[in-house]
Amino acid sequence: MNAAVPEPKHNMGRPAPRIDGRLKVTGGARYPSDLDFDNAAYAFLVTSPIATGRIERFDLDAARAVPGVLDILTYENASGIKGSGFFKEGGTAATTIVPLADARIRHDGQIIAMVLAETFETAREAAYKVQVEYVEETPAATFGDAHADIEIVIEPSEDEGTAHGDVEACLAAAEVTLDAEYGTPTQHHNPMELFTTTCVWEDDKLTVYEPSQFVFGLKNGVAEQLDIDPDNVRAVSTFIGGAFGSKGSLTPRTAITAFAARKLNRPVKLVPTRAQGFTIATYRAETRHRIRLGARRDGKLTAFSHEGWEVTSRPDNYFVAGVSTTTRMYGWDAVAARVHIVHADRNTPGFMRSPPETPYMYALESAIDEMAVKTGMDPVEFRRLNDTQTDPVSGKPYSSRSLMACFDAAAERFGWVRRNPEPGSMRDGDWRIGWGCATATYPTHVGAASARVRLTHDGKVRVETAAHEIGTGAYTVIGQAAAERLNVPLDDVTVEMGDTDLPAATIAGGSNTTASMCSVVIKACDRILARSHDGAAAIEEYAESVPPGAPAEGVKSLYQGRPVMTGGPSGDKAMFAFGAEFVEVRIHARTGEIRVPRAVGAFAAGHIMNPRTARSQLMGGMIWGLSCALHEATEIDRRAARYVNTNVSEYYVPVNADVDQVEVIFVPEDDEDVNPAGVKGIGELGNVGTPAAVANAVYHATGKRIRDLPIRIENLL
Ligand code: MOS
Repeated sequence: MNAAVPEPKHNMGRPAPRIDGRLKVTGGARYPSDLDFDNAAYAFLVTSPIATGRIERFDLDAARAVPGVLDILTYENASGIKGSGFFKEGGTAATTIVPLADARIRHDGQIIAMVLAETFETAREAAYKVQVEYVEETPAATFGDAHADIEIVIEPSEDEGTAHGDVEACLAAAEVTLDAEYGTPTQHHNPMELFTTTCVWEDDKLTVYEPSQFVFGLKNGVAEQLDIDPDNVRAVSTFIGGAFGSKGSLTPRTAITAFAARKLNRPVKLVPTRAQGFTIATYRAETRHRIRLGARRDGKLTAFSHEGWEVTSRPDNYFVAGVSTTTRMYGWDAVAARVHIVHADRNTPGFMRSPPETPYMYALESAIDEMAVKTGMDPVEFRRLNDTQTDPVSGKPYSSRSLMACFDAAAERFGWVRRNPEPGSMRDGDWRIGWGCATATYPTHVGAASARVRLTHDGKVRVETAAHEIGTGAYTVIGQAAAERLNVPLDDVTVEMGDTDLPAATIAGGSNTTASMCSVVIKACDRILARSHDGAAAIEEYAESVPPGAPAEGVKSLYQGRPVMTGGPSGDKAMFAFGAEFVEVRIHARTGEIRVPRAVGAFAAGHIMNPRTARSQLMGGMIWGLSCALHEATEIDRRAARYVNTNVSEYYVPVNADVDQVEVIFVPEDDEDVNPAGVKGIGELGNVGTPAAVANAVYHATGKRIRDLPIRIENLL
C-alpha cells in the first residue's frame, strides 16, 4: 500500500486499480475528438464579438471562395432548429438561447455561423473570412450595471424551508455579531477535452458522438431541437475528457452540427476552440454574499442570515442558491436565506463542481472563522460547540454526520495543536505562516437508474448501463459492485457504459453516480442470485431503481431525458457527506507571494467503494479548491460584457509547482439510510472546504481578511 492505494478501513471496498486505466494511459481509450469517420466534413464556428444587438448583414463571399468550403450555416439558411426547455424547468437544454434562430445577439461569443469544409484547416480559414455587420447595443456585464435586471428567487419562508425562527430578533439580541460581504468570480470548467461533437446520419437515424454527462438528455434534447423521433437518435459517450458539470446539459452546438450533417448528407465533426468553450457552453457565475451571524459571548451561535446574489443570462433563471446547504450547517436558533439573480447580457451559467456549495460555503466558512476570532475561540472548538445532529431548519435528524470526527482526524494529522492563534505570529525567515481550516459538505444525492447484468456459466459478468465515465472511476466502481455481489473477481467483470442503446442511467451530476448505479447493479445481481439454482448457461437480469421520494415513473423520465434525483435535505432525514480541510499557507513578507506547502482533508462519506479512486477524487477536489482560492477567475471587460482571458495561459489553474503535499484521510462511517449501497457521493465534496480554509489561513498569516476570491499577491501588498 502507498498513498495512492490507501489501506481500506472499516466499511470500505478494495482499492482496485481502474479497469480502464491501461486503455487511458496507452491512448487506447477513444474520446469523441479522436473518432474519425469516412467522408467526414469538418465544422468551424464563427462567434459574435458583440454582446447585445443584432446582425445587420453577412458578407460570405470571401469565405465561400476558399477552396474546399462546402457550406456556411447562418440564421438565414439554418432555420428549423428549435430550442428546447431549460433543464432546470424540466427540459434538457443548458440555455434557451437558440443561436441560429434569428439575427439577435444575446451574449458575447454566441454562435452566429458554422463553416463546413473538407478539412478542419479550410473551415477555420474560411471562418476568419466571414464578414459581419452588427447593430450594437449597450450590454450589461455583471452586478451593478445599469442595464442589469435583478430578481429575487429565494425569500425567507418557514413553509419553503428557507427560514426558521426570528432571525432579526436573534441578531439584535446577540452578544457578538458579524455582518460581512464576500464575493467569488466567474470561473470556467476548462476540462482538458474541448466541446466536441460529431454527428452521423444513416437514413433517418442520427448518432451523436459527444462527451456527455447525460446521454439520454443529449438524445432527447437533440431530437426535440430537430423535431425528430427520439427513437431515431443514439448518443454515444464512452470516454469523457473531463466535464465538471460543463457537459451535463445540451448546448446549442449539437443540434447545429446534426443539422449540418443532414444537410450535407455526410458525417460532420466539430471541435471548437478553447476560447469558444468559454461562451458556447456554461460557467460558474460570479456571486456576492452578505452574511450576518449572531452568537452568545461563549461562542454559541444564535442566528444566521445568508443573502446571495448570482449572475445569469437574460432569458434563463439559472441559479444555484447554496443557502439550502449553508442554512443547515450549524445549530443556530434562527436562520433566514434570500437569493437574488441578476440578468445580464451573458451566456447562461451552469453547473460547475459543487455548484451551490463552492461559493456559498466559502462565504459561510470564512464568516465562521471570523466569528471564532471575535469570540476568542479556536476555529475547531467553535465548530464543535455549534455542531448539530439535527437540521436546524427542518428539525430532521441527519442520517449521519461525522463532521467533528473529520475535524479531529485532520487536526491531529496536520498538527493543529502547535498553532499559535495570534495572526502573523508564525514565521519562517521571510515567510509568514498561516494555518486555516474549514468545513466541507455536499448533499448526498441518489437518482433513478437502470442496469442489466449477465452472468454466464464460466463465471464472467457483464454490466450494461448508460452511465458516464467523466474521469471519476465509474467503470471501476460499478464493476466492483457487481463483482462483490456476485462474488467473482473484478477481472471477470466487463462494464459497458455511455451509450443510449444501453439501459438508462442517472446523470453524472450531483455526485450521485456511485450511489445510484451501485444500488441498481446490486439489485440486478440479487435477482441473479435468486435464480442461481436455475442451472441455465447464462442468467440475465434487468433492474430499475427509484429512490424514496422520487416519482414512481422515475426511470421512464430518464429514458425521456429528464434526470430524477432526491436526497440532501429533502427526505425524512437530511443526507450530507462531510469533511474537514486544513491548509498551511506561506506568504512572502516582501513580495506577497502565496504558497501552499500542505493540505490535509479528512472525509466521511458512508461506504467507500474504492479508496484509491475515492482518494483521487478528493485530492483532485482539494486541489481545485486551492485553485479557486488562489488562481481561477474569468476576467470580464465590463464595457463589452466580454471575457478576456479565454485561454489556459491566462485563465490560471494550478500546476505541479503550485501543489505540494495533499493528504486525504478517510473517516469510516456507516449509513444505512442513504441508499442500498450505503454510499455518499464524493466527487464534489473535496473542493468545498478548501477556498475558505485558504482564506482563513491567509488571515492567520497576515491579519488581513480577504473576502473576495481569488486571493492574489496584490491583495496582500
Ligand atoms: Mo456536477 S457540477 O453536478 O456535474
